[in-house]
Amino acid sequence: MTSAHGASGTMNVGVIGAGLMGHALALVHALGGCRVSLQDNDQKALERAPALIEGALTTLTEGDAIAADEATAAQGKITTVASVPDAIEDAALVVEAVTENRDIKRAVFANIDASAPPDAIIASNTSHLDVFPLMSAGRQARCLITHWYTPPYIVDLVDLAPGPETTRDVMTMMHALYAGMGKYPIAFETFISGYVANRIQAAMNLEIFRMLDEGLASPEEIDGSIRHGLTLRLAAIGQLEKLDYTGLEMVQRGLANRTYEPPEPSGRSRTLDQLIEDGRTGVMAGAGFYEYGEVPPTELFRRRDAKLLRLKKALQDMETELG
Ligand SMILES: NC(=O)c1ccc[n+]([C@@H]2O[C@H](COP(=O)([O-])OP(=O)(O)OC[C@H]3O[C@@H](n4cnc5c(N)ncnc54)[C@H](O)[C@@H]3O)[C@@H](O)[C@H]2O)c1
Repeated sequence: MTSAHGASGTMNVGVIGAGLMGHALALVHALGGCRVSLQDNDQKALERAPALIEGALTTLTEGDAIAADEATAAQGKITTVASVPDAIEDAALVVEAVTENRDIKRAVFANIDASAPPDAIIASNTSHLDVFPLMSAGRQARCLITHWYTPPYIVDLVDLAPGPETTRDVMTMMHALYAGMGKYPIAFETFISGYVANRIQAAMNLEIFRMLDEGLASPEEIDGSIRHGLTLRLAAIGQLEKLDYTGLEMVQRGLANRTYEPPEPSGRSRTLDQLIEDGRTGVMAGAGFYEYGEVPPTELFRRRDAKLLRLKKALQDMETELG
């Protein structure tokens, strides 16, 4: 059995919640060499997880991101278990990935508190919640937020946010663990709601919904502008380095001469409400902003992931060659 103190990829990890994120986080840790026990209180979610993990591994092998024997090894490191104690009794790290709801998370943290080794690190994947008040006083020093982006076995960014009592050692250890797995951890000094990437995305969505609601641009024009104009540069050098290339006096003039007001957050969008009313809720429904015809969601997700892997590989090659 691995010591609960272990800071290496060989540690035991318990993942609670086997939904969209949980199954994928089990895979991330298994690919990093950890032994993973995956638990969910919904039997259907638990039964679905191995097939989802297998599908993700196929995508990764077909995209040359991992070798076939790595996929087999990772699959062999994940066990699905029915109870929280079975998942975490020997865990050095507990990853909480249950439904984004305060009451559910509070109950799950109580279960974790009752069964995890005293020195286990407890990491929540919450998107928005300040989860620290939901955890017991005795666990505060060794709990943190580790917030991932979907699909986390392809997207490397992971936000690490400490609670008021989280020790520096825990932050340092988790940073080292994920950096060692080839991930891209960013450790914040404190919990900031939305972290960085989600805040920027939220600001972007406000502007996008304003343009759609006011009929200023179509979905194709917005996505075309993002894909062919904005993100090519952002992916290569980021926004702030891009501003350095623009020249900061020009940026200063741009800020001062702004010709339009940023949208007020109204909390809703007419366009979005209408799509949802029409049953166009996204790829799972076969339509959203776009039509997906008869192509099944699994195939759509596979294609999306294959594109992400190609782009990631191109960016990695670019960095190796050009810095
Ligand atoms: N979906 C995303 O893109 C995304 C990205 C980053 C973070 N997150 C966060 O990750 C967490 C999980 O989100 P998700 O998208 O995987 O949700 P999901 O609904 O797909 O999965 C949540 C799972 O938690 C399980 N669950 C609920 N109560 C439980 C309990 N008491 N014990 C054990 N399992 C329980 C549910 O059965 C479900 O399978 C949330 O906090 C969410 O905010 C989601």
